[in-house]
Amino acid sequence: MSLQVDQLCKEYPTRGEPLRVLTGVSLVMQPGEALAVMGPSGSGKSTLLHILGTLDTPSSGTVLIDGQNPFTLDENALADFRNEKIGFIFQDHHLLPQCTVLENVLVPTIVTPARSKKNADAESWARQLLERVGLSNRIDHRPAELSGGERQRVAVARALINHPTLLLADEPTGNLDRKTAKTVGQLLRELHAQEQTILIVVTHSIELAREFPKRMEMIDGKLQPMSDGGVS
Ligand SMILES: Nc1ncnc2c1ncn2[C@@H]1O[C@H](COP(=O)(O)OP(=O)(O)OP(=O)(O)O)[C@@H](O)[C@H]1O
Ligand SMILES: [Mg+2]
Repeated sequence: MSLQVDQLCKEYPTRGEPLRVLTGVSLVMQPGEALAVMGPSGSGKSTLLHILGTLDTPSSGTVLIDGQNPFTLDENALADFRNEKIGFIFQDHHLLPQCTVLENVLVPTIVTPARSKKNADAESWARQLLERVGLSNRIDHRPAELSGGERQRVAVARALINHPTLLLADEPTGNLDRKTAKTVGQLLRELHAQEQTILIVVTHSIELAREFPKRMEMIDGKLQPMSDGGVS
């Protein structure tokens, strides 16, 4: 149960020189650890998160999640691996508009029917998670009938439904007002601690980053320890 990232590089081809976005990211994290990643716009934070989330592939370097290099798996095995091991929270919730709150939380369990034993308890776990994020009285609502903060809390519950090893959040509070952002940030950290996931949050919010014991900054395509200036 760990995350090991070694010398991860990502470049995008262009008509001229390739655009080198990640130039050697190395990182080791254990269950229960949490990291906030900051850095300027365009520095490669989302690129890193997408690769760790196996939604994109690296140009070189390795990623091991629970000892497995996901990029050696074929497409179907990778989809199952991602679904089982990784919870992703995006800036813009990505909920399915036609599904209720409860159904949205359960979507990742439908995609992996092989894990039937765990899935038998999925609905009760979904209800517990929704209670935990304060949405017990909204389970039959559709996303359009929720506030922005409520939608983001559904996204948090959904990311945890399969008990992921790795919980990744890309600016999860970027679209929320300050007070709501604080609530969602707190929930994320509490649930991460309770579930002992590995949590990586990309954020532009100094307020959110300050809540994390470990903070790093993306500079020149590498993760660097963040000087405390301006943060704590
Ligand atoms: N598919 C792509 N092809 C070419 N270049 C890309 C592609 N995706 C991203 N980039 C470039 O890679 C760089 C890093 O993008 P990324 O989205 O990771 O930045 P970011 O740190 O998340 O920024 P922000 O804080 O604005 O979200 C940017 O300069 C972007 O233009
Ligand atoms: Mg980004």
